[in-house]
Amino acid sequence: MRRRKFLSLAAASLATPALNISRAWAAEPGAPLPIPEVMEIGPGAGNTLDAIRGTREFTGGATSETWGYSQDYLGPLLRFRRGRTANISVMNRLDEPITAHWHGMHVPGYLDGGPQLAFGPGETWAPELPVDHPAATLFYHSHVHGRTGPQVYRGLAGMIVIDDPEIDDPLPHDYGVNDFPLIVQDRRFDRSGRMIYSLGMMDRMHGFQGDQILVNGVIRPKLTVPAGLVRLRILNASNARVYDFRFTDGRQFHQVASDGGLLARPLAMASLQLDGAERAEIVVEFSDRSPVSLVSRDIGMNGVMNGGMMGDRGGSMMMGDRGMMGDRGMMGMDGNSGAPLEIMSFDVGEAAPAGPTRLPTSLPSDAPALGDPVRRRNFTLNMHTGGMMRGGGQTMGINGAPYVMDRIDETVRAGETELWRINADMMMRHTFHVHGTSFRVVSQNGRPVDSAQIGWKDVVRVQGPTEILLRFDKLASEETPFMYHCHILEHEDAGMMGQFTVT
Ligand code: C2O
Ligand code: CU
Ligand code: CU
Repeated sequence: MRRRKFLSLAAASLATPALNISRAWAAEPGAPLPIPEVMEIGPGAGNTLDAIRGTREFTGGATSETWGYSQDYLGPLLRFRRGRTANISVMNRLDEPITAHWHGMHVPGYLDGGPQLAFGPGETWAPELPVDHPAATLFYHSHVHGRTGPQVYRGLAGMIVIDDPEIDDPLPHDYGVNDFPLIVQDRRFDRSGRMIYSLGMMDRMHGFQGDQILVNGVIRPKLTVPAGLVRLRILNASNARVYDFRFTDGRQFHQVASDGGLLARPLAMASLQLDGAERAEIVVEFSDRSPVSLVSRDIGMNGVMNGGMMGDRGGSMMMGDRGMMGDRGMMGMDGNSGAPLEIMSFDVGEAAPAGPTRLPTSLPSDAPALGDPVRRRNFTLNMHTGGMMRGGGQTMGINGAPYVMDRIDETVRAGETELWRINADMMMRHTFHVHGTSFRVVSQNGRPVDSAQIGWKDVVRVQGPTEILLRFDKLASEETPFMYHCHILEHEDAGMMGQFTVT
């Protein structure tokens, strides 16, 4: 038997008044937010992730069969330090091939953990990673072609934090005290409370969405935070769901980092939208000591359709706020209905003994200039490419063809800045993720975007023509190319993915 390797946060707890929000489902008492164990990854042997089977009681007392990296479900928080070599070995104790992809990390193709680097049951993959990435919150997950959706859903995913010893972090950074990881996922359960994943037609089309929200593997948990500034590292690790986070009391907070690292300065906001695989670090002021909940407007299918763009910083839709389908969305999906989904709740304890009490006005962000593009490429995301998948459903693709592992779609030259224009062939919301580098968003829907506000990205929402500026410094060969794909995992598995070399 494996013990669940979670630390529970011991902090003073105050009495909680009843939360004043409606819930979409029967309320369950908020269990404490589990704080993932930290695995410091440096040089040398000893850092092992075992991909294993586990069980979890998520809800209703039923036992679900889960997978995890050295845990029942999900994996430890991996901490890397910039400038230091990191050795990690991943052991496959499951009965199908897996990978470990370091999503967002700038490493060469042969270390990237993409589909070409799948390793089978009983095998170990032991990459040595040169950590050359600014301080950031990243993501790791399995990435086997055609199986990424179910594998991540079962639990093969976790958070990465990169520390940069060269910068003096002016933000709260005491892990588990005033700096918390929030891995947000939605899951579906059968009537007994067992976690389920099986794709119906709508799930294939829109991506698989659950009706219960988990943070760090627990449904609607509660966290006791210190009365002061608190940093939340939010990762949308859902297969397809889009969140529009906000606090029940409407309080402002500041975004301080996006996918690839710190922003140039803290950005005040009252709501934050994250598509699948996007990350944001936010700093929230809790010194008023009032308990509050983090909720999400239920974007549902309407958000997956090319619809509402609320809380958006990148320009708004051609068709207006609700999308062309109107209030109820296509096919009767009620995407913007009433009650917000509760994500988790916060209690406020004593002030933290240490840590910043004020936000800095600027942040030590790492911002190399990209210069003007020397090449342009166009990508169209296709909902249909005319074929059928082996397991049922239609193949999807990019530029007319579904992903094929032995076809190289693009060849890129290292060190050259490029402009990529991404579009979709139907009115459907997607994302676009690129391996091997971080990029700047230049425009969305023909409107320029202030990339200083958006920061360094590796996933971007595609809801109309989207332009990104990027340059690759890490190499990728034909044997182990980099991927680009929609990060709605069911679209990716259906073939909405391509691959490229960098030479
Ligand atoms: Cu998050 Cu190609 O992956
Ligand atoms: Cu990735
Ligand atoms: Cu998609």
